[in-house]
Amino acid sequence: MRLSRYFLPVLKEAPSDAQIVSHQLMLRAGMIRQEAAGIYAWLPLGLRVLNKVEQIVREEMDRAGAIELLMPTLQLADLWRESGRYDAYGPEMLRITDRHERELLYGPTNEEMITEIFRGSVKSYKDLPKNLYHVQWKFRDERRPRFGVMRGREFLMKDAYSFDLDEAGARKSYNRMFVAYLNLFARMGLKAVPMRADTGPIGGDLSHEFIVLADTGESAVFCHKDLVEMGAPGPDVDWDGDLQPLVDQRTALYAATEEMHDEAAFNAVAEGDRLSARGIEVGHIFSFGTKYSEPMKALVAGPDGKDHMVQMGSYGVGVSRLLGAIIEASHDEAGIIWPESVAPFDVGIISLRVGDAACDAACEAVYKAVHAAGKTALYDDTDARGGGKFASMDLIGVPWQVIVGPKGIAEGLVEVKNRKTGERQTAPLADAIAGLTAKAAG
Ligand SMILES: Nc1ncnc2c1ncn2[C@@H]1O[C@H](COP(=O)(O)OP(=O)(O)O)[C@@H](O)[C@H]1O
Ligand SMILES: [Mg+2]
Repeated sequence: MRLSRYFLPVLKEAPSDAQIVSHQLMLRAGMIRQEAAGIYAWLPLGLRVLNKVEQIVREEMDRAGAIELLMPTLQLADLWRESGRYDAYGPEMLRITDRHERELLYGPTNEEMITEIFRGSVKSYKDLPKNLYHVQWKFRDERRPRFGVMRGREFLMKDAYSFDLDEAGARKSYNRMFVAYLNLFARMGLKAVPMRADTGPIGGDLSHEFIVLADTGESAVFCHKDLVEMGAPGPDVDWDGDLQPLVDQRTALYAATEEMHDEAAFNAVAEGDRLSARGIEVGHIFSFGTKYSEPMKALVAGPDGKDHMVQMGSYGVGVSRLLGAIIEASHDEAGIIWPESVAPFDVGIISLRVGDAACDAACEAVYKAVHAAGKTALYDDTDARGGGKFASMDLIGVPWQVIVGPKGIAEGLVEVKNRKTGERQTAPLADAIAGLTAKAAG
């Protein structure tokens, strides 16, 4: 992308109502624009990152055996009357009436609809287990939308729903999502800790929130410090095998959100290992048995020939919130530092003298080579001053920058800068290209 043709409305200063650094930086970097309280337009740069985050979530869901579909944003109120949640949900639900006076709502979540889809076609245990997911916009009329995309009213969520014949099957489905979540957050450069979460009247131990530690997080959390650095199992786990040991390895250590916090159990952890911090909830997995299948009559025939209420779980990831969480975890004075996996562009090209034949040719060569390697570059071909170009490229957080100036290129040299470390290296143009395309290809 050539910056002269792009749409990147960067701001020198953050609007004063942005309280946390990720919100400030997303506004300054021209990623989002507020259209109403808690409702944002995704500008081109923001959309590129959003799409990358969504794609990682999708790949890890697919790897774990979940199947993508797409449900609508609008739902019939009657569907929610079946589960009893239409009245229970309260003012967070946006209720709409169509021209025929039919009551609709803008979906805050999709348990009812997926149960309706499931019961319409799955009748036998032979078709189980199933895990169906979508990535769709949600609306919740939050009392206090704040912190930008962190707590929006309209936000993008990945929500998956599992269906099993019995509790043992449901636990396996739960474990698959637990492990998939470890991997997907790690791929975005995040250390997300699974913590025991409230199960309400359902009870049991199958509810975890995945929490990224950050001072600006909305939840108070408590955990064993080893969990933070534990790392992810990686893609090569046996998805059809027993994942319980991987889950146990983590759940054996204390980790709980405020609602589930047990002071005595926490104090049993060695003092030096206790971490009490704030965190951002980026995902939530919950196995809730027959909460929906019972009132909505989602039954399957078991091997015993009898009808069984299907066991369900739901698994959410806050896709749009993740952008805020990643920035909270990865930024410096100068701006955002995107992990390579989610960066809006892989390489930034800065020309210090646009119109100079040698500079133009060198920039074009880098630009072509990066794209030929299957990656993307943002080429600053504007006539802004060097200082402004450096500041913008740092602000938007492109991981690698190539700086091309008339003096250097006269000797065939360019500079390559790593955004994260700030390290700069001068190299012959061909070497710089080889290095960047190798990196970019990796
Ligand atoms: N208002 C919001 N804005 C952005 N993301 C949200 C919002 N509410 C929930 N999410 C994200 O969606 C995920 C799944 O939602 P869920 O667990 O149903 O939300 P909650 O815990 O707020 O009831 C959460 O883990 C969070 O990452
Ligand atoms: Mg939650």
